[in-house]
Amino acid sequence: MPIVFDIASRTFFLNSGGATYALAIHPSGLLQHLHWGAPLRAQGLALIRPDDRRPYTAVSADGTHCPESIALEYPVYGHGDFRFPAVTVRQDDGHQLLEPVYAGHRIVAGKPRLEGLPATYTESDAEADTLLITVRDAVSGIEIELAYTAFRDHPAITRSARIVNRGAAAVSLERAHSAVFDLAGSDYELLHLSGAWASERSLYRTRLRPGSQGVESRRGASGHHHNPFIALLSPGCDEDHGEAMGFSLVYSGNFAAEVEVTAFGSARVGLGINPHEFAWLLEPGASFQAPEAVLVWSGEGLGGMSRAYHRLYRTRLVRGRWRDAERPILINNWEATYFDFTADRLDGIAARAAAIGVELFVLDDGWFGRRNDDRSSLGDWVVDRAKLPAGLDDLARRITARGMRFGLWFEPEMISPDSDLYRQHPDWCLHVPGRVRTQARQQLVLDFSRPEVVAHIGDAVAAVLRSAPIAYVKWDMNRTLTEIGSAALPAGRQRETAHRHIIGVYALMERLTSEFPDILFEGCAGGGGRFDPGMLHYQPQYWTSDNSDGYSRLKIQYGTSIVYPLSTMGAHVSAVPNHQVHRTTPLRFRGDVAASGNFGYELDLAACPDADLEEMRRQIAFVKRTRALIASGDLYRLASPFAGNLTAWMVVAPDRRRAVVFAFRGAVEPNPPLPRLRLRGLDPALDYRLDGGPTVSGGDALMAAGLDLWFAQGDFTSKVFELVATGPVPE
Ligand code: DGJ
Repeated sequence: MPIVFDIASRTFFLNSGGATYALAIHPSGLLQHLHWGAPLRAQGLALIRPDDRRPYTAVSADGTHCPESIALEYPVYGHGDFRFPAVTVRQDDGHQLLEPVYAGHRIVAGKPRLEGLPATYTESDAEADTLLITVRDAVSGIEIELAYTAFRDHPAITRSARIVNRGAAAVSLERAHSAVFDLAGSDYELLHLSGAWASERSLYRTRLRPGSQGVESRRGASGHHHNPFIALLSPGCDEDHGEAMGFSLVYSGNFAAEVEVTAFGSARVGLGINPHEFAWLLEPGASFQAPEAVLVWSGEGLGGMSRAYHRLYRTRLVRGRWRDAERPILINNWEATYFDFTADRLDGIAARAAAIGVELFVLDDGWFGRRNDDRSSLGDWVVDRAKLPAGLDDLARRITARGMRFGLWFEPEMISPDSDLYRQHPDWCLHVPGRVRTQARQQLVLDFSRPEVVAHIGDAVAAVLRSAPIAYVKWDMNRTLTEIGSAALPAGRQRETAHRHIIGVYALMERLTSEFPDILFEGCAGGGGRFDPGMLHYQPQYWTSDNSDGYSRLKIQYGTSIVYPLSTMGAHVSAVPNHQVHRTTPLRFRGDVAASGNFGYELDLAACPDADLEEMRRQIAFVKRTRALIASGDLYRLASPFAGNLTAWMVVAPDRRRAVVFAFRGAVEPNPPLPRLRLRGLDPALDYRLDGGPTVSGGDALMAAGLDLWFAQGDFTSKVFELVATGPVPE
């Protein structure tokens, strides 16, 4: 049983994959946080901290504790605890005081679903236990059900909260975090993944300091700027050593990840929907479900934390038939043609792609309405006969006749002011009457808080998907949300719009992925602007960044790998000079960088010289040989692009009999040192053959002494090694 309740000490022990999370019912009825970290052997330890009374602070009304210093789970504000709260409920008397105390609990096998929201899941009840604790405020009748799932085989705890109004009056929910708790100490570094368009998810590490700190989004989407993730790292924590605690939110809208270090040296951590401009009217009997937070603990450094997230997200967040299937090598026409294509031009690219072994042709933006640039037609999901006179079906059949599958781009959540849809339904976009409608990329955002808008777009997209043999969809989303108001909601519910909108997005994704289970969906938001766990629940892969420059991609893919598995990252080889940063890098280097993700090309193959096509054939053969291993293996980051000129990582098969090592050097250095790369994750008792050649090395030597790294001359060079264990596979 991953979850145990020790009746004597009224303590819950959540044992998940080698880590323990412990909380207790305090004599006051509050839930007290006790421990999260290394596994605890005994139960009912003397874990409950003595009352930590401080001078000049309040004492709880029942005299049991000091509200300002007690370590809590899911706290409230207003009775002497001045740290940020987990939940705020404005009641009909205008106040927001709550005294939620323990009212009961249940432990159930498996993991209940979160209605309408993406979440991790179990495939059998034996995989996890879920603790459901109810706390109740007697005065208002507000009840909060806290859910904690402990996975048997993953060092992960998932948390969420459901707020139920069992009182007689309507209330306004103004904050409903998914998880909040207090750590006894604050000697940690805060790690977050931040950036901008074309430079998503760079690593930032700062020492925690007294006061509030964290990251958030107010953009209506998780966004390019901050990922819904933070980690707290023990001092000196590196890839292999130290404690790493990850906090990841399965949500794609406005989020907040907060840490507050108190004067007493403790740290409160919280994660959830951003309370900024959020409120939810709860009529008597109504409930609100907060999204899921996924907490991972590792005693084996940042690398251990990442591998735990990778295994969990790869196998129990991503769903559907593509979860475990090999992903096709694709060619996307965007950087080859932009909006300027004909069926013949596309077919010309496809012909060359098929000849070198590409498996999927993706037609990007510009195939519908009258879309010859980005100023029109979003919302009019009807093929443009001026561009494709014989229709989509004809083009898709020409492509499939070449032995490739056919994929198509959509941007379902958007509407162009110059579109038939907008002319018919000018109030279907997010807007506030009488106010300007701010455009970004000449487009507005559809109001997906309205079920009829979601249904209309769903019908239109489904009709296209049924009209031709379409095997893949690229689901784009190219702007953030402004004037977040809905024509369908009354004044008192306008602050629900942003969350209702993202629930509508999820509902459409759920509908289309269920209706078309064989289609592979790839997410995109101006590149990696919404690369988050919520999206991965519907779309097993995501376009990592619009920046396809191989050298920039080292940082972007390395940063993304802190939480997300390689199997979720779209990575394409594009032309040089690169279209985003104008850098020229060798084709081999670009291919080696892209081979660590879902591999593809995004350039005009019809314009490529034969020598390049030959190199691409080699790349494709390599990807076909290694993609299953790269998608399912364990990632070990060996050298960080944020630290120097050398970047390296490797992927090891679950049985440790195969591995692939990637190393990249940026600028050439005169008379450089010959670095040795110490490998990780191999079996020290096995011998490994390098690149199918005569060299055989022990796993112990490869990890302790390392591998000589000898780069060719020139800037932007790469080395790839394939390791295969010698000797028979044990029975
Ligand atoms: C932004 C995406 O990130 C690109 O890959 C491309 O699909 C364009 N949108 C098309 O408008």
